[in-house]
Amino acid sequence: MFVINCKNYEEISGEKITKFVKTAEKVSKKFKVKIAICPPQHLIGVVANSSIPIFAQHIDDSKVGSTTGFVIPELLKKSQVNGSLINHSEHRISSKEITKLVSKLKELKMTSIVCVKDVAEARKYAKLNPNYIAIEPPELIGSGKAVSTERPELITKAANAVKSANNNTKLLCGAGIVSGQDVSKAVELGSKGILVASGIIKAKNWDKIISEFAKALV
Ligand code: G3P
Repeated sequence: MFVINCKNYEEISGEKITKFVKTAEKVSKKFKVKIAICPPQHLIGVVANSSIPIFAQHIDDSKVGSTTGFVIPELLKKSQVNGSLINHSEHRISSKEITKLVSKLKELKMTSIVCVKDVAEARKYAKLNPNYIAIEPPELIGSGKAVSTERPELITKAANAVKSANNNTKLLCGAGIVSGQDVSKAVELGSKGILVASGIIKAKNWDKIISEFAKALV
């Protein structure tokens, strides 16, 4: 699984998101690699019925109805959104909310990716049985220095922690990943995929860089 978090980068603003998702669809088909995109929240509807999974960047534990401004899993589901990141480093939430949101996504048969900053959190949240745990050391996010080369032990330890918590949750890793080599290294260390943002979104040639990452995951 190859998850691209678009964050709120200018490079995918407005109509550019459509071109970006189309490029990812093409690469996903060509290399038969599962690529999921997390568009900026306000653009989810624009790309929601793509042939590749579309995930939210954040969801709120709020009810359907009079909850102005909150992003509600039940309504995302109705717009063909397939899942969500939960607790991204740039949008942390409480442990209680994480627990409730993982279970809500499970009920709705949507994919949950719980982001964690260290091995202790990976161990703790793997017990909730989300589809994925994504480990991202905050200090490497957006740094261009890959977690797989800077903190290899973090991936191996997190992979073991997730495995010992349950057999269903898979590990992703992210932060600073910018090349196919960084991706291969992450997989060698026990990651089942990656969560990436700037290395892809800010690249000049999306087709080329998404293909480079995809090839490393085949
Ligand atoms: O969600 C992915 C992210 O936080 C990693 O960001 O820019 O280091 O790939 P980046």
